[in-house]
Amino acid sequence: MVDAGAHDRGVLPVTAPARIEASALAELVDAVGPRNVLTADHDRAAYERDWTGRFKGRTPAVVRPADTEEVAAVMEVCRRHGAALVPQGGNTGLVGGGVPMAGEVVLNLRRLATVEPVDVVARQVTVGAGASVSSVQAVAAAAGLRYAVDFAARDSATVGGTVATNAGGMRVLRHGGTREQVMGVEAVLGSGQRVRRLQGLVKDNTGYHLGSLLCGSEGTLGVVTAARLRLVTAHPHRVVALVAFADVATAVEAVASWRSALDTLEAAELFLDGGLALVCDAFGLAPPFVDRWAAYVLVEAAGHHDPTDGLAAAVATTDAGDVAVATDASRRSALWRYREDHTLAINTLGPPHKFDVTVPLGVLAAFVDEVPHRVAARVSGARTWLFGHVGDGNVHVNVTGVAPDDERVDEVVLTAVAELGGSISAEHGIGTAKARWLHLSRSDDEIAAMRALKRALDPDGVLNPNALLPRGT
Ligand code: MLT
Ligand code: ZN
Repeated sequence: MVDAGAHDRGVLPVTAPARIEASALAELVDAVGPRNVLTADHDRAAYERDWTGRFKGRTPAVVRPADTEEVAAVMEVCRRHGAALVPQGGNTGLVGGGVPMAGEVVLNLRRLATVEPVDVVARQVTVGAGASVSSVQAVAAAAGLRYAVDFAARDSATVGGTVATNAGGMRVLRHGGTREQVMGVEAVLGSGQRVRRLQGLVKDNTGYHLGSLLCGSEGTLGVVTAARLRLVTAHPHRVVALVAFADVATAVEAVASWRSALDTLEAAELFLDGGLALVCDAFGLAPPFVDRWAAYVLVEAAGHHDPTDGLAAAVATTDAGDVAVATDASRRSALWRYREDHTLAINTLGPPHKFDVTVPLGVLAAFVDEVPHRVAARVSGARTWLFGHVGDGNVHVNVTGVAPDDERVDEVVLTAVAELGGSISAEHGIGTAKARWLHLSRSDDEIAAMRALKRALDPDGVLNPNALLPRGT
């Protein structure tokens, strides 16, 4: 059934029916209890679309297991009945990977929200897939430690979702992405087999590291039900600076020099004049400086000793313009808002096409300067917004003023990335939105190897069958 009204509402159309056999539905109810199988329209709605409003699907049922046993039972029912399912955490994904775009059952993991006490000796914690990222940050902080993964959707995003997508965020520069924090996982594979490796052994060369494989597999191989996470030092001194530059190339060069000069560097985030103006307008914020600049880098440093002087000295060696420095928590957050609120501000213009790409640092400035022109030349009325994690070479390219299903803009941006030897997904994943473009970043042999893994671990093809791997290739 095609949702004929979808274009009017500014969302992608649903392309498949959302049906399930009555006997399968009854077995799902047996598995998790009637209160945790949602079938009424108003109960399902929030699980059927992403928060940006671009991806809207339809599901016959949202199933909410309480623990790993129930996840396994749901998987068993779906396998026997050939019912596809989409694992879903906080539904903060940006590539349509956690939304039932083809009528799948939604397997929502939020009830698996246990957070065990922090193991201070090992500097690790074991948490359920449904625990939010901010709840892990909070228990880590209470134990005098820190959970390194951090991004604006921290309060809603779940650990299971971040493991499934290998989420990155603001502090990859210093601590790596989610995969670097995952010491082990518990999961139910598509085959029904279970994986449970939560001892947190730092060294464990006993064959394939299944946790690393599941991390970033986007719910196509197994359902992560818990993770053992590494925690890092909570440095007592922290400083944030917002540094303005006359152009992007100078900003990129400055960040490269800070990376060499400062072992306290934790984040280096880029945004541009247009994005800053939009954020200020959308949320009534005063601009940080009297003058306007082409590019801004928000930089954070943290250490056992106050890193402020070191950061100021490093900034002084670069061709920087205006600089604002904040050491207390509330001023630091105020500076972070100019960067973190980009996502929400852009969404006020309507659901954007969101691209999350990496390009080699040597060509990043040229890419940022060139892409808006290429987009505007191809789709009139399109407006491009660029921001991101400049220290990682990771740029978020958001395009507004384009119909949700107009893929010309996808082709322009992703082809430009591929020409430069970049990746079409740095940290958001492939989902359903970018599956048809996977060949731009992965060879035929690599895609064949991924398919072989998929067949082995999900032999009935029930797990997120429309995400990641392109259909029919
Ligand atoms: C960010 O860095 O702000 C997130 O990846 C979200 C986004 O790209 O909109
Ligand atoms: Zn990001």
